Amino acid sequence: MTGASGSAYGVDFIRRCPGEKFLVLSDWARQVLHSETALKPSDLEPHVRRIFADSDLAAPFSSGSNRYDAFVVIPCSVSTLAKIAVGIADTLITRAAQVAMKERMRMVLCVRETPLSSIALENCLKLAREGVVIMPISPPWYGAPRSLDDLVAGFTRKVLALLGEPSGRGWREEELG
Ligand SMILES: Cc1cc2nc3c(=O)[nH]c(=O)nc-3n(C[C@H](O)[C@H](O)[C@H](O)COP(=O)(O)O)c2cc1C
Repeated sequence: MTGASGSAYGVDFIRRCPGEKFLVLSDWARQVLHSETALKPSDLEPHVRRIFADSDLAAPFSSGSNRYDAFVVIPCSVSTLAKIAVGIADTLITRAAQVAMKERMRMVLCVRETPLSSIALENCLKLAREGVVIMPISPPWYGAPRSLDDLVAGFTRKVLALLGEPSGRGWREEELG
């Protein structure tokens, strides 16, 4: 998680994503998490195997010798997006992103900013051409959400579907039966 607005999306993803998860929060992710949800990183511990510090560049994910299924940044700030696009790797999140790219592991960046500058758009394009999934946080409305939780969960389901996880019914899916 990075320090873009929308910590609730990161929290919901961590709660719903099955399997073994490792969490890294940037310094600003910690601050925004607290200001938007009143949660502390330790509140997320029950949902993940371990939390690593973003300053821990010696963590296992700093090395391409450790493989995993997917690297998801949710929410992803345009600052982290920019650092990844130019190859800066001075935090665990940005280093893990470089590793995921060079090792051709799946990477999803749930960018949260609006409007987007031409710089951010160019960074998105550059990374998309590298095979990174750029997934702006833009929750779907076709599931007729009745609450904010529904809306957030709708976006989480889209991320999970990208990762190959069953994610509920698709649009007019019953007509395919
Ligand atoms: C309350 C709050 C909301 C923010 N919202 C956004 C946002 O939606 N998108 C964004 O790119 N940056 C946002 N920022 C700015 C980032 O936190 C800032 O650029 C920070 O340096 C990002 O660092 P990080 O990517 O290492 O977390 C926000 C900051 C605060 C304090």
